[in-house]
Amino acid sequence: MSLPNIEELVRPSHDERARQGFVSMLRKHAIIDLRRAMKEDYESRVEPALERRGQRPADWRGIEAAMQSEPSYRFYSTLRYNAQEMCYLSVQPAVERALPGLVAVAREAAARNPAGGSLRVDPTLEVPRYVSALDVHLAPGWVHAEHTADDVAQAAVVAFGGKVFTGHHPFRKRAGVVAESIGAWVKERYPGFAPRRILDLGTTNGKNLLPYADAFPGAELHGIDVGAPVLRYAHALAEHEGVAAHFSQQNAERTDFPDGHFDLIVSSFFLHEIPVKATRNVLRECHRLLAPGGVMCHMELPDEGSVSAYENFFWNWDTHNNNEPYYTSFRAQKPAELCAEAGFEPDRCFAHLIPDFATTGPEKLRQFVRGEYAAPPHGSGGWFVFGGVRGR
Ligand SMILES: C[S@@+](CC[C@H](N)C(=O)[O-])C[C@H]1O[C@@H](n2cnc3c(N)ncnc32)[C@H](O)[C@@H]1O
Repeated sequence: MSLPNIEELVRPSHDERARQGFVSMLRKHAIIDLRRAMKEDYESRVEPALERRGQRPADWRGIEAAMQSEPSYRFYSTLRYNAQEMCYLSVQPAVERALPGLVAVAREAAARNPAGGSLRVDPTLEVPRYVSALDVHLAPGWVHAEHTADDVAQAAVVAFGGKVFTGHHPFRKRAGVVAESIGAWVKERYPGFAPRRILDLGTTNGKNLLPYADAFPGAELHGIDVGAPVLRYAHALAEHEGVAAHFSQQNAERTDFPDGHFDLIVSSFFLHEIPVKATRNVLRECHRLLAPGGVMCHMELPDEGSVSAYENFFWNWDTHNNNEPYYTSFRAQKPAELCAEAGFEPDRCFAHLIPDFATTGPEKLRQFVRGEYAAPPHGSGGWFVFGGVRGR
């Protein structure tokens, strides 16, 4: 008997949909229109005025200091902050109403495993303080808070809040585009590569894990996270979709998998959320877990050295305004050097953009791998990735 789709149990009312639509538009207005207006304001007025006074900012911190008191920045920043909070608040009532049903489906998935996957939660796992001490992304309770037995509420809030955030209709957003892009790139870049086991770190609801089932049929899929609610939800989704994936509650800094257990280790939107010290531990753990010839590929924010001072000012906004305090320090690292420090051979480490597969397609990807096409910027048709290949 098939398992109900856990996502279809959350049914916003007419008014809640209207509220979510409003929040999506408000956030879009901030992140597209006001972002553009702020840049124009900086380039056409603020920067020339500073230049005339001989105070042209030397780096992104100078730009930030100059923009703090400018109305264009203050409007942008205030609207973006408030819209972010509203994304999660706007989905909470529907999730709360659906909660008993959500928990029941997640429990059924764990009891039956109809697709052949598994779920392993560990009530003794200490959620790192860098996750639990603040509401990451301004999402109250983030992905780990639990208020009832076998709770999945935070997973649903983050999943549906994320859909409002990206401005898609809550029930039609296509998920997994990062995994699709990495999977397609790895296949094109390393012909004949056939991973037996794949691990996704900081998997949250597993949406950037499941597409690897199509990219590498037959590979065993694993996803780990420190948050139990998201793993229960991820597992229920995978079982509904008929994908056998194994989810376990573990800290990626030190897992219980044996040495050399995986051929492909991936992550997306993960490492900028943890301290650099923890990132170093995670990369060392990846090196331990990879079999010889195995590939590690993390999709991340572009590092400070790879974009302009203005772009750095834009990207680092989240550090102080979105409860992501490690953003700036993570972006200040040289990603390929971090991989080399973790044990990967320097000439087998990489850090660059890849094309978004969904928007650019297979032909552009082939051209990209041949060096005939440059991937678009991160988040605008491209994704920044870094990693390494494990020596034999
Ligand atoms: C922004 S989310 C990742 C999103 C997800 N990978 C995706 O593509 O949709 C970051 C995730 O990392 C998890 N996380 C943070 N620290 C971790 C750690 N040390 N080990 C495992 N997971 C961790 C968080 O619980 C959260 O679910």
